[in-house]
Amino acid sequence: MSVWDQRRVSPKSVDQSGVWRFRELLPEASEAEIVTMVEGNTQIWDAPRCAEYAGMNRLSFKHLGMNPTGSFKDLGMTTGITQARRLGATSVACASTGNTSASMAAYAARAGMKAFVFIPSGQIALGKLSQALDYGAVVMQIEGDFDDAMKLVREVANESPLYLLNSVNPFRLEGQKTIAFEMMQQRGWQAPDRVIAPGGNLGNSSAIAKGFHELIERGVIARTPKITIIQAEGANPLYRMWRDNAETLTPVVGAATLATAIKIGNPVSWPKAMRGLRWSAGEVEQVTEQEIADAKAMIGRDGIGCEPASAVTLAGIKKMVAAGVVNPDEDVVAILTGHILKDPDFTVNYHAGALSYAGKNGEKVAIESRYANAFAHAPAERGAIMKALGF
Ligand code: F0G
Repeated sequence: MSVWDQRRVSPKSVDQSGVWRFRELLPEASEAEIVTMVEGNTQIWDAPRCAEYAGMNRLSFKHLGMNPTGSFKDLGMTTGITQARRLGATSVACASTGNTSASMAAYAARAGMKAFVFIPSGQIALGKLSQALDYGAVVMQIEGDFDDAMKLVREVANESPLYLLNSVNPFRLEGQKTIAFEMMQQRGWQAPDRVIAPGGNLGNSSAIAKGFHELIERGVIARTPKITIIQAEGANPLYRMWRDNAETLTPVVGAATLATAIKIGNPVSWPKAMRGLRWSAGEVEQVTEQEIADAKAMIGRDGIGCEPASAVTLAGIKKMVAAGVVNPDEDVVAILTGHILKDPDFTVNYHAGALSYAGKNGEKVAIESRYANAFAHAPAERGAIMKALGF
């Protein structure tokens, strides 16, 4: 622990990285092989307005959207691309709802590799698409959803020299497990009662559980937080499995949510996620589109902000406090996974009262903008502006 603490003030990138700082617990790589953008080192912030909104006495967010490409994917991409380099790969591939593609494209560029990203056509947020384009990836828009893209990229990777960098790749999860390490280091090795994360393809929640497990096995921390996974109601296969006490996961066909990052019906890492849930005595909850949109606006009001998928955490806590599952006294850290600027369309539409989604029968369902911050308008004239401002 003291070695890990000392590395925070080292001038070397591999020491400053919130991933490689913990390299004793990571797959082996020499310094020359490591591809790092000094990822990690993301803030934990108190969120008093959000705590009040959820009915909690306190609440904090660890914001992984503050990573180099604006999402937690960088934590797994530094280890994934490093492994690709160790294997001599020259081209890498992934299917993505956007963030993985942005992150892989950036790290591949840093490593001088060619990146191929498979994305569901027209279904990823513009911030993410623009990143993949600027970082020079081959952007393959698949006429299908994420689950189709995921299946196809696995088939293509099997028959080509492409090295697959979705979270089925265990080297990705090795990097992402450092979320637990860094959180504990920031908190003086005191575990919270609960860690809440969004669930999509279910790699991240699995990785966080693995991280806590390793710290307990080594006696670094004394107890585990309950790993709690929140899904969007329209993309909730893990929630259904949990609720029904089922042995296996039944995919949701045609998953639907405006939180496009987690618009996934057939998550590949569900067995690992279940292991982490059972081991930590965790929970799974689901939230509606309206709950996600309102929670996102509240996270903004605390001056923090996030992309829609991240806001399921606050929506989920609020629901679980109301149901008596979460105690208002609990020490909870919620994981914000993506930066507010990833999906500005969602945010602006919410505040303009223009956010809607397609209901079960294709009908348009309007989101109520309960916490909207409406635009003010005035002619380009001082007196009119003073009047509009109420002075
Ligand atoms: N939050 C954000 C912002 C995401 O981008 C993702 C996943 C998740 C949560 C869910 O994490 O899949 O590990 O359960 N995005 C992937 C992608 C699928 O392609 O960018 P998970």
